[in-house]
Amino acid sequence: MRVAVTGANGLLGGAAVMQLRPEHEVLALGRGPARLPPGRYRWADTDLGDGVSVERALRGFGAEAVLHAGAATDVDGCERDPDLAWRVNVGGTEQVARACRALGARLVAVSTDYVFDGTAGPYGEEAIPNPRGVYARTKRCAEEAALLLAPRCAVARVAVVFSGRAGAKSTFATQVVEKLSRGEQVRAFSDQIVSPTLAEHGAEMCLELLLASDHLGVLHTSGATALDRVELARRIARRFGLEGEIVPVLTADVRLAAPRPLRVGLVTGRAAALLKAKPLPIDEAIDRFHRQWVERGR
Ligand SMILES: NC(=O)c1ccc[n+]([C@@H]2O[C@H](COP(=O)([O-])OP(=O)(O)OC[C@H]3O[C@@H](n4cnc5c(N)ncnc54)[C@H](OP(=O)(O)O)[C@@H]3O)[C@@H](O)[C@H]2O)c1
Repeated sequence: MRVAVTGANGLLGGAAVMQLRPEHEVLALGRGPARLPPGRYRWADTDLGDGVSVERALRGFGAEAVLHAGAATDVDGCERDPDLAWRVNVGGTEQVARACRALGARLVAVSTDYVFDGTAGPYGEEAIPNPRGVYARTKRCAEEAALLLAPRCAVARVAVVFSGRAGAKSTFATQVVEKLSRGEQVRAFSDQIVSPTLAEHGAEMCLELLLASDHLGVLHTSGATALDRVELARRIARRFGLEGEIVPVLTADVRLAAPRPLRVGLVTGRAAALLKAKPLPIDEAIDRFHRQWVERGR
């Protein structure tokens, strides 16, 4: 099958490209040159924000299935540059969805727990979104654009994506390891409850949803455990055998450009029932993260 992945230099998109089996023809789309290890994929340097290049590349490739994992993901950056956020997150998703419609392709568009306001989590798929802030609003509109324009579309919501693989970008989880290893303290929000998603496992769930399921509509494909970030940092520290100070911080006490939803765990029972790759409990995800970390040190 001809399978395309946007955001291929990113945490989740990159993991997906590396997992696609050799029987597939793979087009990886990202801006600039590939930063992935070499593999059996073609690369398309395309911009989700330019209105044309992603759609053109997908049509030229004749994609039969598209995992749309590319997005402007810097939440505070989106707040400061809303035009860019709307262009990339909504306009970019429109490009992808238009191509999928024209090609009759299956689409999985990756979205976020931030579509919720965080007053009453954990949230199931049926809960009514109430996005706050530019990133959250653009991602919610992107969900609708994908579902409206592409008839064979599922929206896969993930949260707090992290990975320990070599080359993966810095995240809260990797910073916990790096700071505690250097003897520095870690500051963590005690009032943000989230469902962290190991990128490689989120990618596995999204690919199964894309290639082996005809589920339509929203599915929560995050990790299975909702916990606050202090507890997440403590569990990572414990698994890595690191001691050190983890300082609880309240979101309201830190100046951030964009609002943060506080209680936004995701309920993942539907994905557990539908997919072979079940949402991972957090300690299992941290075990795998630890193995990735050891591996990259070799
Ligand atoms: N990261 C999280 O904690 C998180 C949480 C909830 C939901 N999500 C969602 O999960 C999906 C995957 O994100 P991720 O975690 O893999 O984040 P990521 O590592 O930031 O990946 C996003 C990718 O999109 C690319 N991108 C940004 N602007 C672009 C543009 N104008 N044209 C082409 N590509 C562009 C980025 O390119 P560069 O590599 O060049 O920057 C990056 O590779 C996204 O839909 C995101 O909204 C992420």
